[in-house]
Amino acid sequence: MCNQCDKPKFYITTPIYYPSGNMHIGHTYTTVAADTMTRFKKMTGYDAYFLTGTDEHGQKIERKAAEAGVTPKQFVDKIVAETKDLWKLMNIEYDDFIRTTDERHEKVVQKIFKQFYDQGDIYKSEYEGQYCAECEAFWTPTQLKEGNLCPDCGRPCETAHEESYFFRMSKYQDWLIDYIETHPDFIQPPSRANEMLNNFLRPGLQDLCVSRTSFKWGVPVDFDPKHVVYVWIDALSNYITALGYGSDDPSLFNKYWPADVHLVGKEIVRFHTIYWPIMLHALGLPLPKQVFGHGWLLFGNDKMSKSKGNVVYPAPIVERYGVDALRYYLMREMPFGADGNYTNEALLTRMNADLVNDLGNLVSRTVAMIEKYFGGEVPAPGAEDESDIALRERFEALPGIVEKHMNELQFSLALAEIWKLIGDCNRYIDINQPWVLCKSEEGLPRLKNCMYYLAECIRAIAVHIYPTMPSTPERIFEQIGVTESELKTWESVQKFGGLKSGTKVKKGAALFPRVDIKKELEFLYGGKDEEPAKKEEKPAKKQEKKAEKKAELPEGLASFDDFMKIKLIAAKVIACEKVAKSDKLLKETLDVGGGVTRTVCSGIAKYYAPEELVGKTVVMVANFAPRKMAGEVSEGMLLCAEDENGVRLLTVDGSVAPGSEIG
Ligand code: ME8
Ligand code: MG
Repeated sequence: MCNQCDKPKFYITTPIYYPSGNMHIGHTYTTVAADTMTRFKKMTGYDAYFLTGTDEHGQKIERKAAEAGVTPKQFVDKIVAETKDLWKLMNIEYDDFIRTTDERHEKVVQKIFKQFYDQGDIYKSEYEGQYCAECEAFWTPTQLKEGNLCPDCGRPCETAHEESYFFRMSKYQDWLIDYIETHPDFIQPPSRANEMLNNFLRPGLQDLCVSRTSFKWGVPVDFDPKHVVYVWIDALSNYITALGYGSDDPSLFNKYWPADVHLVGKEIVRFHTIYWPIMLHALGLPLPKQVFGHGWLLFGNDKMSKSKGNVVYPAPIVERYGVDALRYYLMREMPFGADGNYTNEALLTRMNADLVNDLGNLVSRTVAMIEKYFGGEVPAPGAEDESDIALRERFEALPGIVEKHMNELQFSLALAEIWKLIGDCNRYIDINQPWVLCKSEEGLPRLKNCMYYLAECIRAIAVHIYPTMPSTPERIFEQIGVTESELKTWESVQKFGGLKSGTKVKKGAALFPRVDIKKELEFLYGGKDEEPAKKEEKPAKKQEKKAEKKAELPEGLASFDDFMKIKLIAAKVIACEKVAKSDKLLKETLDVGGGVTRTVCSGIAKYYAPEELVGKTVVMVANFAPRKMAGEVSEGMLLCAEDENGVRLLTVDGSVAPGSEIG
C-alpha cells in the first residue's frame, strides 16, 4: 500500500536492454507488455511504477564501440537516444529510465559489491574458463555445446584467464531450491521453474565469477580498481538502484520494493531467478514476487536478435499502420509465455479481421444507425428482451474476466474476451435486424433498446482496450459522444447503463483503414523496407519463382517447401500425466534436446496409461503454433497412427538423442 495515496502499489520492470544495436520488435514486445500492464494497473486503482532502461557496460559494448571508432559512452548515448524515441513512438509511458552509466547507479553498485566482499560472500581467486561475450555469460566445460559453443546463443566462446572475484553462490543453493519450491508463483510460467531446478540448481551451483580485469568498460571495483564488476551483477542491481536503494533518498525503494513482476525473455530467466535472488538474499532484501519469462518472437525458426541481424524494426510498421495496430498485434497474437513467429502477413490479417471488420465496423454501423433512426441522439432504453439481457450480462461479466487474465499477464486471453463482446454486439445487430425494426411503429421500442445497448457496449469496449491501445478509445468516445471523464473509467464499466440517453453521436473517420494485404506485403518486402533477413535468406527473385511454382500446384498437393515448413524432431517423454479438465488428454513433458523441455497435450488418454509413455522417444512437430487445450498450453504435436482399434504413437526405432531432426 502506498502511504501517501492509500492505493495498493505495483512495481513492474522490463530487462534493461543492451544498447549494442537498435531495439527491434522483440524488445518492443516486452516493453509494450509492461506498458500495457502498467496502464491496466493504473486504470484499476493501483499506484503503479514502471521501470525500463539500458544495460550499457560489458565486453560486447566495448567491442562494438571500438568497431565503430567511438568511445563506449558515445556509442551508447546515440542508441539510448534512439531507444527513447522508439518508446515515445510506441506510446510507452515509463516512470523511470535507468542507464547503468548513471552515477546514481554506479555508486550503489560499488557499495553493493563492497558489502558482499565485507560479509564474505565474495573472495578473490583466478578464473579460467569459457566466456560468451554475446550473452556475457560464463560456462563450464560440461555446459558448453560441442565445438566450444555457447549453449544459449550457439556462438563460439572464448577463453578467459584472469584474476577475478568470485561470489559463493553454492552457499545459497539449498535456500534457493527451498524458496522456489515453496513459492510456486515466483517463476512463471511454471515449466521455467522446473527447468531452473533440474538444469541448474539441483546439479549444484558453481561459484560465480563477478569481476573482470581483461577489459575496462564497467563499474570499477572501488577497493581494487583494476577490476570491473561483472556486467550481470551490475545490470541486475538496476531494479533497486533506480528506486534509490543505498542512496540518500530511498523513499521510492521503501514504497515499491519488492517488485511485483520482472518481465524478461526466457533466455535470461536464469539470471533473474538464480543470481538475482541470491544477491538480494545476501543483501537481506525481499525477493521480487514474480519473474515472468515470456517467449520469443521468432523469425522463421530463429530467435530474432540484434546480433544475428534477422530483425524487424517497429518504426516503419507504426508509421504505416499506426501504433495501436502494432501494439494490438503484439499482445494478441501469441500467448504470453509461448514463442511465436512474427510475420507481416499475420499482422495485416489481424488488422483487417479484428480491427477493421470487428471493432471498426461495429462503431461505424452503430453511429450511422443512431444518426439515421434517431437524428444522432442515443435513445432511452425500455424493458429488456432476451437478447438485451444476454448482451448486458456479457457486459457485466467482462471486467472480472479481463482482470483475471491481466493479473496472470495473459494479454492475448484478455483481448480475446474483449473481442468476444465485440462479436456478441455484431451478432446482436444481426439477430435484432434494426433495418426491419425501423419500418414499423411496433418496432420502435426494440430499435431504441438496440441502439442504446450497442452504444453502451461500445463505451465499455473503448475502456477495456485502453491499456493495449491507448490512442484508440478517445477516437471512439468522440464518435459515440462520450465527453464526461467519469464515463471513461474502469469503475464506470462495472455496471451497465452509465451512458446517458440523449448523448449526441458523431460519425468520424474509420477507426482503422482496411489494408490490401497483397499490396502491403509487396510494399513491405519489395520496397526499401525489405526485411534484412529475408533478403539474405531468399533473394527476391528466388522468392518470386517459388511463388509461381506454388501457384501451379494442383489443390491438395503439398510442395517440397510446404513439407519443409514442418519441423519434426525426436523427443523423449520424461513425464506424463492426465489433464485434469479432460478425459481425452494426456500432458507429456518432453526432452527436446539442449536441456530444454516442452509440454504437449495429446488426445490419447483412452489408448495409453500415462506411465506407459515415459521413456519413449516419439515424433514431435516442433514448430506447431502453441495452443491452449483444456486449460493447458500445448507446445507441439505428437504424430500418431489411427485405425479402427485405436491410436498408436509413432516412436523411433533404436535410440537417438532428444532433439534429433527427422526428415
Ligand atoms: O539480455 N523475442 O539485454 P538484450 C522476444 N541486458 N523478446 C525479445 C526478443 C525476441 N526475439 N529479443 C529481445 C539483455 N527480446 C540484458 C538484460 S536485465 C537486468 C539485463 C527482449 O538487449 C526480451 O525481453 O539482449 C529479452 O529478454 C530482452 O529483450 C533481451 O535484451
Ligand atoms: Mg540478448
